[in-house]
Amino acid sequence: MSQLKKAGIAAVALTLVLGISGCSSEKEELNLTAQQEKEMSERLAPAGEVVLEKDVATVAPVAAASGPRSGEDVFNKSCTACHSTGAAGAPKVGVAADWTARVDQGMETLYANAINGVRGMPPKGLCMDCSDDEMKATVDYMLEQSK
Ligand code: HEC
Repeated sequence: MSQLKKAGIAAVALTLVLGISGCSSEKEELNLTAQQEKEMSERLAPAGEVVLEKDVATVAPVAAASGPRSGEDVFNKSCTACHSTGAAGAPKVGVAADWTARVDQGMETLYANAINGVRGMPPKGLCMDCSDDEMKATVDYMLEQSK
């Protein structure tokens, strides 16, 4: 069932409940025991999850981004602050000379240093939810942009 349908049903259910209690002249009958109240709220709970359109909008991109991120995406989010500016002596993307000595160490070392950190380079460039594969793709992207 779609979330919006659920929300619609919740609204109808709520109207019914409120309507019934509002019309009743014998209020004592509505004095539910704690157990009854608990059961009722449990029955209403699943239909009571109202999903607002703005929530759907914020959830959707997360779902879309659940696969591995591209090197470009990770770079723009987590690495550009240092590697576009050269902050703290970071090798600059786009400046081939900054990378030659580093590439000479071998790609495995370069990947490992990006993942584990080395000197001023923090582990994973502080992208703590980046997988090792995403880190490697990002290093590849940075080198590709620095030829
Ligand atoms: C806080 C700043 C900062 C951020 C953010 C950052 N780096 Fe770095 N990075 C550095 C610095 C500084 C160095 C140079 C370290 C050295 O050799 O002294 C470096 C070096 C590297 C190197 C070369 C390592 C080597 O063996 O020479 C790679 C590869 C690298 N960074 C990848 C990344 C990636 C990928 C990201 C994003 C996920 C990232 N960095 C984010 C500061 C940063």
